[in-house]
Amino acid sequence: DGFSAKRLFTQGFSYTYDDLIFLPGYIDFAADEVNLTTKLTRNIELSIPCVASPMDTVTESSMAVAMAALGGIGIVHYNNKAEEQASIIRNAKSRRIPLITDPIFISPTDTIDSVDDFYCSPYVFVTESGNSNSKLLGAVGVSEWERLLDKTTVVCEYMSESRITAPSSYTFEQAASALVAKKLDYLPLVSEEDGHVVDLFTTADYERIRNAPELGLPSLGADGEFMVGAAMGTREDDKRRLEHLVKAGANVVVLDSSQGHSIYQLEMIKYMKRTYPEVDVIAGNVVTMNQARALIEAGADGLRVGMGSGSICTTQEVCAVGRGQAIAVYKVSSVAAQSGVPVIADGGIGNSGHIVKGLALGASTVMMGSFLAGSNEAPGRYVSQGGICVKKYRGMGSLEAMTKESAARYLGEKAKIKVAQGVEGSVADKGSVLKYIPYSMQAVKQGFQDLGATSIQSAHNLLRSGALRLETRTAAAQREGGVHDLVSYKK
Ligand code: XMP
Repeated sequence: DGFSAKRLFTQGFSYTYDDLIFLPGYIDFAADEVNLTTKLTRNIELSIPCVASPMDTVTESSMAVAMAALGGIGIVHYNNKAEEQASIIRNAKSRRIPLITDPIFISPTDTIDSVDDFYCSPYVFVTESGNSNSKLLGAVGVSEWERLLDKTTVVCEYMSESRITAPSSYTFEQAASALVAKKLDYLPLVSEEDGHVVDLFTTADYERIRNAPELGLPSLGADGEFMVGAAMGTREDDKRRLEHLVKAGANVVVLDSSQGHSIYQLEMIKYMKRTYPEVDVIAGNVVTMNQARALIEAGADGLRVGMGSGSICTTQEVCAVGRGQAIAVYKVSSVAAQSGVPVIADGGIGNSGHIVKGLALGASTVMMGSFLAGSNEAPGRYVSQGGICVKKYRGMGSLEAMTKESAARYLGEKAKIKVAQGVEGSVADKGSVLKYIPYSMQAVKQGFQDLGATSIQSAHNLLRSGALRLETRTAAAQREGGVHDLVSYKK
């Protein structure tokens, strides 16, 4: 019944996830017994198969920490100076709790002219020099500032004096009990070395983390800190960036290109393996077996698959090159598996079914952009649009993003005219990834149970042996597979 993957994918069609459906297998285990432990690269294990994409509207320190706390990993984008990227990585690695508000600092003689000076944080901290490198004197809350009649008053006249703090090495339980026991609405977390504020723990963090379903094993490096990845390009000056990333403690580096089969990338992989053999390299992006073979031969420890499948991508329309994501994942994985190189299915994840499909077709992890954008942990602020709360999400090849460093991913070394390969948009507020990633992982476990696969590896074995059967879906079958014939419904 149905087709084996080998047969289905030799018919000349560029299939993507929605074109396909798996036929059910045999269940003799509970969904909770499904093991989603997996490999990101040859040497890095994760307890859930989720990777946050290196995009400037998806992964900075808060996302990286949340993903690592969940057992996945975030790859910090490089649409910034090398020093800035390194500082985001250091910040993420120094955190012990998945917090989301970067502390804002001001000096005692400053005034707060507008609510924008709070940068969405509920408090600003007053320090001697107005930055994070000096003694904490006090704090001003948004509500205190709002009550202030004369906004030209300098902050030292109405700030609340410096108060209870906790060490930044505190676990969530320790920080939470200090917050609750002392009935605080926020707790500055300070460095044990110099007493400087490094983080802000608020009642909102307490609620967000306490209400999250139980998390799996966090992703920790050999240093005991959260694992954090970083992306970079393949230009000569990226070697300097690489040095910063390695010094900042990046656990894995992703060579970020929309078409990875290039002399620039092959040479960069070799350089990295020669210079920093201890850091795993993820190469890509690739969609064909030929591309995959070349990057593996050069020394890649992981491969990132996808070209034009992302929700904000226009590469296939602009350049007429790419591949349907389902066949790309299958073909690349079949080559990579022979060398023990794990594959990341990058882009096109819109629901948990797509995650099941990417993994069952041979990937070991999925990389997500839009699925994580719009969450509390994504960079940027919420704004109201047409009555709903949204956050910005944009392609790294969009004109807006390419005004910074990311142009290298989509342009030649010396291109003079910028051609966009992505769009700028917005996505609805999704709440915290600490809540919906565990929910999605439970759905993925149920999908694996339906397939009769107890783990990602067992799904791969079923796929390769031909025991996993699948078919294409007609347009009518796709319609039938979604919600239909209702006047209205609730999700
Ligand atoms: P999703 O579907 O998760 O896709 O939103 C995220 C992935 O899309 C890729 N990406 C782009 N591709 N133009 C492209 O053609 C772009 O501007 C762009 N920005 C991101 C990238 O692989 C990401 O992980």
